Amino acid sequence: MADDDKYSVLLPTYNERENLPVIIWLLVKYFNESGYKYEIIVIDDGSPDKTLEVAKQLQKIYGSDKIVLRPREKKLGLGTAYIHGIKHATGNFVIIMDADLSHHPKFIPEFIKKQKEGDLDLVSGTRYIGSGGVAGWDFKRKLIRYRHNVAEEFINQNIIKMGAPNVTGSFRLYKKDVLQKLVNSCISKGYVFQMEMIIRARQFGFTIGEVPITFVDRVYGESKLGGSEIVQFFKGLMYLFATT
Ligand code: GDD
Ligand code: MN
Repeated sequence: MADDDKYSVLLPTYNERENLPVIIWLLVKYFNESGYKYEIIVIDDGSPDKTLEVAKQLQKIYGSDKIVLRPREKKLGLGTAYIHGIKHATGNFVIIMDADLSHHPKFIPEFIKKQKEGDLDLVSGTRYIGSGGVAGWDFKRKLIRYRHNVAEEFINQNIIKMGAPNVTGSFRLYKKDVLQKLVNSCISKGYVFQMEMIIRARQFGFTIGEVPITFVDRVYGESKLGGSEIVQFFKGLMYLFATT
C-alpha cells in the first residue's frame, strides 16, 4: 500500500470509442495493483464517434471519483486539452498520456518509482534508451516519426544542446505545481506543446528522469496528426526556436 500521493491521469480523446474501455480497464488494473490513489480525467472534444457516451458508461462502472469527465464542445487541440484537464486535477501528480493504447499503463508504476527515487520534478517515457522501442509502425507513421526525429535533432543541436531526450514523446509524469508552472510559460498549442514543455523544463532547471517505454502504434482509429497539423507543427517549431 502506498502513501498519500494522488495521481491525476489526463486522457485527451478524439474518436477513441474503441480504445477508451481498454485503456481505462488497464489503468484501473495497474493502479489497483500498486495501491496508489488516482483519478482519470477524460477530456473529449465532441468526438463524432460519441466517445463521450462510452466514457459515461465507464463512469457508471468505475465510479465518478475515479472517472472524471471534462468534455469540450469541439476539437480544440491537444495542447489546450491538457490545460483544460489540469484545471480539474485534484492529485499532487499529473500523468499525461495518449488514449489510443500507444502508451501502455503498465509503465506507470515504473514512472512513479523513478520519480520517488530522486524526488524528480518530471519523468518522461522515452523510446530511445534501454528496452524502449517502436512496434507495428507502417510507412505513414514512420514518415511522421522521421519528421519528429528531424525536429528533435534540431532542438537538441540548437535549443537545449544536450543528449537525446525524448522531446516529442508525451507519456509523462509531472509534479502538479511543476506542470502548472510549465503550462503557464508555454505559448504553443497543438502537438508542439509537448516539445516546448520539456525545453522550458530544462530552462527552469527542473529535474527530469527517463523511463524506457515501447510505443505501439494504434490498432483502432487513425492518428489525428494530419497534414495541416504537421504544417502547424513546423510553424510552431520555428516560433519556438525564435523565442527560446
Ligand atoms: N481532446 C482532444 N482534442 N484530444 C485529442 C485531440 C484534440 O484536438 N487531438 C488528438 N487527441 C488525442 C487522441 O485521441 C489521442 O488520445 C491523443 O490525443 C494522441 O493523438 P494521436 O492522434 O493518437 O497522436 P499520434 O499518435 O499521431 O502522435 C503521438 O506521437 C507523437 C510523437 O511521435 C502522440 O503521442 C503525440 O502526442 C506525440 O507528439
Ligand atoms: Mn496515436
